[in-house]
Amino acid sequence: MLLRIPQVLTPEELTQLRQLVLGADWADGRVTAGSQSGSVKNNRQLPEELPAAQQARHIVSVALARNPMFVTGALPKSVYPPLFNRYSGGANFFGNHIDNAVRTHAATARHVRTDMSCTLFLSAADSYDGGELVVQDTYGEQRIKFAAGDLVMYPGTSVHRVEPVTRGERLACFFWVESMVRSDAQRRLLYDMDMAITALRRQDLSLINESGQNPVVSERPEVVKLTGCYHNLLRMWADV
Ligand code: NI
Repeated sequence: MLLRIPQVLTPEELTQLRQLVLGADWADGRVTAGSQSGSVKNNRQLPEELPAAQQARHIVSVALARNPMFVTGALPKSVYPPLFNRYSGGANFFGNHIDNAVRTHAATARHVRTDMSCTLFLSAADSYDGGELVVQDTYGEQRIKFAAGDLVMYPGTSVHRVEPVTRGERLACFFWVESMVRSDAQRRLLYDMDMAITALRRQDLSLINESGQNPVVSERPEVVKLTGCYHNLLRMWADV
């Protein structure tokens, strides 16, 4: 499942985050690459131990935790501390690769299985040319270039690349999520079910409001049962 999560960051957070990271000292992006991906990677990355990186990570982590679409789409068990990269000038692309299956966070020695890869766009889409994230899936290639503050989440099992940036600069945040539900197909089913139940409840509530009834009424038994099915599937599949 490939998911677009709009406006993960507020405009104020975006401005603050950009100011924090753009003024810092950047390094060659190959430091976090495996041997295959290292050979096709040509960008810059913010060293994660820098104070600016720590503050920027905090902004992203807070934004993710309050975002219901991220939480329901990812069912996160563990999130690799967000990293930052930039593509411009001579360091402007990242060729086809699959992310390493397990990332070990150096500072904590904590392992994260990369069920999902995430990119949070931090540059206005019209401020640079190229730089599309291209994700290969069974339907073909998805070319992704979202507005600043929007996030894309896609299965860690996908071959992907970042096209060369030929004008301007593409600044982004990226990280991986280990999900409570390992299977992409199961996560997809749970996500669809959650969205449908939420929509049903919203419709019920608006009908109640229109009719002038007290909104504190018991829910329809069908909705209660469907909600129960969601949780029972999650109970069956979740590894916590
Ligand atoms: Ni990658």
